[in-house]
Amino acid sequence: MSGDKKLLRSLRGEVQAVPPVWMMRQAGRYLPEYKATRAQAGDFLSLCYTPELAAEVTLQPLRRYGFDAAILFADILLVPQALGADLWFVTGEGPRLSTITSDADFAPIKGKDDIHDHLAPVYETVRILSRELPDDVALIGFAGAPWTVATYMIAGKGTKDQGPAHALKAENRPLFDALMTRLTEATIEYLSAQIEAGAEVVKIFDSWAGSLKGEDFQKYALNPARQIISALKARHPATPIIAFPREAGDNYIGFAKATGADCVAIDNSVAAEWAAEHVQKDGCVQGNLAPGHMVTGGQDLIDETKRIVNAFSKGPHIFNLGHGITPDADPENVHVMLEAIRG
Ligand code: CP3
Repeated sequence: MSGDKKLLRSLRGEVQAVPPVWMMRQAGRYLPEYKATRAQAGDFLSLCYTPELAAEVTLQPLRRYGFDAAILFADILLVPQALGADLWFVTGEGPRLSTITSDADFAPIKGKDDIHDHLAPVYETVRILSRELPDDVALIGFAGAPWTVATYMIAGKGTKDQGPAHALKAENRPLFDALMTRLTEATIEYLSAQIEAGAEVVKIFDSWAGSLKGEDFQKYALNPARQIISALKARHPATPIIAFPREAGDNYIGFAKATGADCVAIDNSVAAEWAAEHVQKDGCVQGNLAPGHMVTGGQDLIDETKRIVNAFSKGPHIFNLGHGITPDADPENVHVMLEAIRG
């Protein structure tokens, strides 16, 4: 029964002696089998849009490690592409998109109901995975949060300080707000379709939430999350939702209550002991081992993993990294981490 899956039990608020564990970017370039399948697909986007191959790379880390969850293999930037933006990846540099800096750039952006033809292969990947996953593994769907996705759509690439998005917000607020609203609506439809295809949990990645300060955090990180979560809960009340307002700092406090999220994922810039006291008091937390330990390994990896498990042991917890595992990580270190958690 799906309710007995270890990940879902923590999301329902159960305290477990051994927490469920998975890793952000668990299907990725640190794994030779991922690189082989990516080469077979030709490029990253073809991998995302070929359901059999996307399902295959989703399953690879489960075979190797036996995680408690699988995360759909896709990317947060598929939504901008479905809305009509151009998207490509430059090897060694990252994503590139057509930019949105004027009302004329926004005019051709599609409506929330026009995304599904483009995203149909992603829904097919979810359907394949919900058939093929081991019985005890939960399937996580995901989307980027409106702010994070908007930062890429405005700048046309990843930026260190999200400067172009902050500038548009200051200079043309109606346009910025229109883009945020469109992304909020599209994200609701996208995640809803993933749930209908078989995703058992969904996660909202707000990787750049930390650059929203003061009232802006409330307006552009918290409010969109609340809107997305309340719409999804109205349609799919049984599906748990993980929110990841990365580098939110003190704004992690109360985020779950204010948005209705079942779990808040925490990055590694805050201490687990702090998060246990201030965030876990409201429910499940996910996190937060620094990804660098998967590169450096050794006794520090073991000690840090155990410290985090222990810090969160009095409440519901899902073990994860504080951000994605990096391509230079040593696959052996994942075994070391799992041994430290599961004993
Ligand atoms: O976690 C998983 O295993 C699921 C798949 C997943 C990917 N991207 C695959 C991917 C998920 C959940 C994402 C989310 C994502 N994508 C985020 C939010 C989380 C975060 O990392 O902060 C963001 C900001 C993106 C946008 C994105 N996609 C960037 C900036 C890049 C380039 C950086 C890089 O690591 O190369 C990507 C590419 C990407 N998405 C890769 C993977 C496995 C690497 C692509 C490759 O194989 O070359």
